[in-house]
Amino acid sequence: MEFKHTPVMLEECINGLAIKEDGIYVDGTIGGAGHSIEIAKRLSKKGRLVGIDRDEEALEVAKKRLKNYSNINFVHDNHDNIKEILEQTEIKKVDGILLDLGVSSYQLDERNRGFSYMGDAILDMRMDKTQSLTAKKIVNEYKEENLANLIYEYGEEKFSRVIARNIVKQRQIKPIETTKELVEIIEKSIPARFKDGHPAKRTFQAIRIEVNNELKPLYETIINCIDCLNSGRKIMRYNISFTRR
Ligand SMILES: C[S@@+](CC[C@H](N)C(=O)[O-])C[C@H]1O[C@@H](n2cnc3c(N)ncnc32)[C@H](O)[C@@H]1O
Repeated sequence: MEFKHTPVMLEECINGLAIKEDGIYVDGTIGGAGHSIEIAKRLSKKGRLVGIDRDEEALEVAKKRLKNYSNINFVHDNHDNIKEILEQTEIKKVDGILLDLGVSSYQLDERNRGFSYMGDAILDMRMDKTQSLTAKKIVNEYKEENLANLIYEYGEEKFSRVIARNIVKQRQIKPIETTKELVEIIEKSIPARFKDGHPAKRTFQAIRIEVNNELKPLYETIINCIDCLNSGRKIMRYNISFTRR
């Protein structure tokens, strides 16, 4: 499948980075390279871009899209490790960092990745396929209370307790293997009058955040990113920017 992703706030991000042609930049979520290609276009041969993604499929797409640029390091890793990544690349400080957090539309559309509540696939949701924690493990092995808490906290789902209870009931009969099976449990757990959009969207978001540990390391990651910046330079996270003094 082609990796299609409309870059979020492209102009704002590129303007915010105020790219210097000989500067060094990090795209910590390179994805389909929608932002990176605009950074690369603005760099001279002396400039450098480090593109990180924890999803190998995304990196392959980014490599193809950026094949005409020789000054890019592609790194399969978690941007939480930005300090180690830059050390290994022998870069001391950088002039700007972009984090376009979350899931890409490619990951959602690629049905066999198990991110989507549309269609049917094995419950997976891993951005990095080398990690062992999957959605299937969470749904079948987490305690009811932990499931309810994460669905509430990461999905803001009012019916989190009912959904968790019904998941546990169902898995006592047989393991829950697929996205469709999970959707059916969620649909039965939410009364029709409370359905607002697809009933599974909040629970799927919550489980995806848990699988990929998307929120817990974020504060430390941003602090680490700021440490890696030259003075006066910026980290862009959508429309939030942090400038190193
Ligand atoms: C919203 S998409 C980025 C899209 C990209 N900006 C573009 O325009 O094509 C987010 C990407 O970040 C990756 N990602 C999410 N969390 C990550 C992390 N902690 N470390 C590295 N990559 C991550 C995902 O695999 C996904 O490819």
